[in-house]
Amino acid sequence: MTSIPDIFGTMAYGPAPEAVAPAQAWLEQHGRRFGLFIGGEWREGEGETFETLNPATGKPLATLTQATAGDVDRAVRAARKAQPGWWELGGHGRARHLYAIARQVQKHSRLFAVLETLDNGKPIRESRDIDIPLVARHFYYHAGWAQLMARELPGREPIGVIGQIIPWNFPLLMLAWKIAPALAMGNTVVLKPAEFTSLTALRFAELCREIGLPPGVVNVVTGDGRAGEAVVAHPGVDKIAFTGSTEVGRLIRAATAGSGKKLSLELGGKSPFVVFPDADLDSVVEGVVDAIWFNQGQVCCAGSRILVQEGIAERLVAKLKARMETLRVGDPMDKAVDMGAIIAPVQLEKIQSLVRRGQDEGAELWQPSWSCPREGWFFPPTLFTEVAPSATIAQVEIFGPVVVLMTFRTPVEAVELANNTRYGLAASVWTENINLALDVAPQLKAGTVWINCTNVFDAASGFGGYRESGFGREGGSEGLREYVKWAGRRAGGHAGGRSGGRAIGASTRSRATKQRRAASTISDRRTVGPPDRLPAIDRTPKLYIGGKQARPDSGYSLPVLDAAGRRIGEVGHGNRKDIRNAVEAARKATSWAHATAHNRAQVLYYIAENLAARAEEFSERLARLGSDAAEAAAEVAQSIERIYAYAAWADKYDGRVHHTPFRNVTLAMPEPIGVLGVVCPDTAPLLGFVSTVLPPVAMGNTVVAVPSARAPLPATDLYQVLDTSDVPGGVINIVTGVPEELAAVLAAHDDVDGLWYFGTAAGATEVERLSAGNMKRTWVDYGGGRDWADRMSGEGEEFLEQATQVKNIWVPYGE
Ligand code: NAI
Repeated sequence: MTSIPDIFGTMAYGPAPEAVAPAQAWLEQHGRRFGLFIGGEWREGEGETFETLNPATGKPLATLTQATAGDVDRAVRAARKAQPGWWELGGHGRARHLYAIARQVQKHSRLFAVLETLDNGKPIRESRDIDIPLVARHFYYHAGWAQLMARELPGREPIGVIGQIIPWNFPLLMLAWKIAPALAMGNTVVLKPAEFTSLTALRFAELCREIGLPPGVVNVVTGDGRAGEAVVAHPGVDKIAFTGSTEVGRLIRAATAGSGKKLSLELGGKSPFVVFPDADLDSVVEGVVDAIWFNQGQVCCAGSRILVQEGIAERLVAKLKARMETLRVGDPMDKAVDMGAIIAPVQLEKIQSLVRRGQDEGAELWQPSWSCPREGWFFPPTLFTEVAPSATIAQVEIFGPVVVLMTFRTPVEAVELANNTRYGLAASVWTENINLALDVAPQLKAGTVWINCTNVFDAASGFGGYRESGFGREGGSEGLREYVKWAGRRAGGHAGGRSGGRAIGASTRSRATKQRRAASTISDRRTVGPPDRLPAIDRTPKLYIGGKQARPDSGYSLPVLDAAGRRIGEVGHGNRKDIRNAVEAARKATSWAHATAHNRAQVLYYIAENLAARAEEFSERLARLGSDAAEAAAEVAQSIERIYAYAAWADKYDGRVHHTPFRNVTLAMPEPIGVLGVVCPDTAPLLGFVSTVLPPVAMGNTVVAVPSARAPLPATDLYQVLDTSDVPGGVINIVTGVPEELAAVLAAHDDVDGLWYFGTAAGATEVERLSAGNMKRTWVDYGGGRDWADRMSGEGEEFLEQATQVKNIWVPYGE
């Protein structure tokens, strides 16, 4: 028998098991069999069933229902039916329900925690102390936004029915991240939990009934990817919010292309953990534990790449190995266990095969001397050193307790290595030098940057990615934007559509139609009307790339016709190669993002000033394109005013400091997206160009613009204006040609970070489909048209939101 002196001698932990009886009793109460939660009722599904297993033992916990397309349809109908009533309940009414949910989660927190650990395999310490308290916090926080919505989000309304698909790594927490903001903003939801971990979602459904949530506001359909596909494909769903793998995110992007569904994607990551030489190494070691061994490393923002300054690497590795030796892997119900089980055999095999790959590629593996339990699915904490930056294990998301360590010499090299990934979800920076930390943080391509901490989350802070980590934010005021649309507009685009369109002024509509009709295809135009004899053909503008005029690679030009079908000029027929050059120039000019907002504003004012000096010339040009003289003069005046508006916004669209409940400030900074393609509208050729190109430029993006095909000359006339306005070369690039062709090239281009497309519905569909390649953010209008002269629809915050993404930087304080 172990004596007390023995215990003091070894300081080994004894078992400290959490009681599982209440959770088992709950399962028994349901006969260990669950249907679907639709319209506030439990319903039998039409299809097959499957078992959910305990990853720590491999034994079944309950039988679940595989929802069919028919089941999903019933759930979507229930959500649709419930939505108007839920919205009409008002902010206070919704706040009361969300508050009740939060209270109820707290009151049943231990049952939720134990169920979560049974179903997922994560240590009870984490589900009890991190997941479930954060779930409650999300509902409290968003109860507040429901209450404040009318005052704080004027002009916005719910999107409608939201399809939400979540992964297995934080089952109830991901549910809360999705459901709380959706409900707060007046939407109803159909949620599909991951097939491995549905139990807490089902207990949550029951909770919704307990608190008297109106039937149909929350619906839960279980099942694997097929059920997810049915949610994505359902025409009655207005938005899809997805968290999971980049592969499935890409499929969803392609599947929703052209559907008008709004989309937010929170995907994979390969987050850097950057350690500078003056960092407190003991804190760093605990940071690594939190970064990669929290939740067995099955965390999308796991700090899976340690980048350490060469001079301290050896010391850090020694300390890390010592700490790894003391980590405890085992029964996740044991309160003194650090790491629990891996979710499923398929995930364990994926981890094992990537680890073998790492060894085959020459990296050095280190694991602690102890061994993992044999029952269930476990994997030990693993450290790889001698890793090349291009190695598979340095690039691919492993989603397991495996970290790679690489070294750098200078901060510049650290940033380069950190950004050497296709992902951009999170990063952490370790240094005692606040100046260095705050200098490096904005340079990291990541939606969240933690300084001297890692994997901290809160409802008040937005979370989400860049690049192949997806787009959209969850949490914080920025996260609300995912669940609202501007009043009267369609969710994914604007004007018209299923949810009712904002009335466009009748005269504008007829003008827009006339202009669209006039904008026949290029091949038509080649044969329309006789070549013009009087006046002579204008100068033929080239393309505008990198601040210089460049001949189109094709060597072809396209005719430009006036309102009567006469040829009044020609423009270059830009092609793939021209777009490539323009993107290259735009990429080189991204230092524009680091110009001060004041400087950007000055440049914009200067553009307006130079345009004003040539107002008459521009008016004449517009008049020849079909406007009458007064309309033309008005369009130029409005364009000047619009440039003023964005010059004004340039230094006023700033961020927030979020009140996260830790000892830190969380800085939410809007950042430019990067290189943005803009396919400009065909209506209002000057005002439309200015209204779509200037907002991203004001926010620090660089732009490759494709002007109106019908009337490109007002845009090409701007070359001289740009030249004389101190716009740095490459900030605005203009490629004329056939918009559909050029949009497709931009959409498929890997180095374009975002794309706005104001063209036809078919073109918009193609843009969304092709953009899945690098998961670039798109904004399209499905041919909806917009009254550019109307300040409410042609200008404002909507454009600025689309031109930026929010980075949250967590800065702790206190000794
Ligand atoms: P997954 O992306 O396949 O699953 C996530 C959710 O999407 C689940 O609810 C699943 O049923 C659903 N789903 C699957 N296929 C679908 C489809 N075609 N249409 C709609 N919904 C679909 O992730 P999985 O298979 O569970 O894990 C695979 C890998 O993904 C992991 O090894 C990990 O690398 C990564 N992953 C990343 C997560 C993150 O938070 N970034 C979360 C989970 C997994």
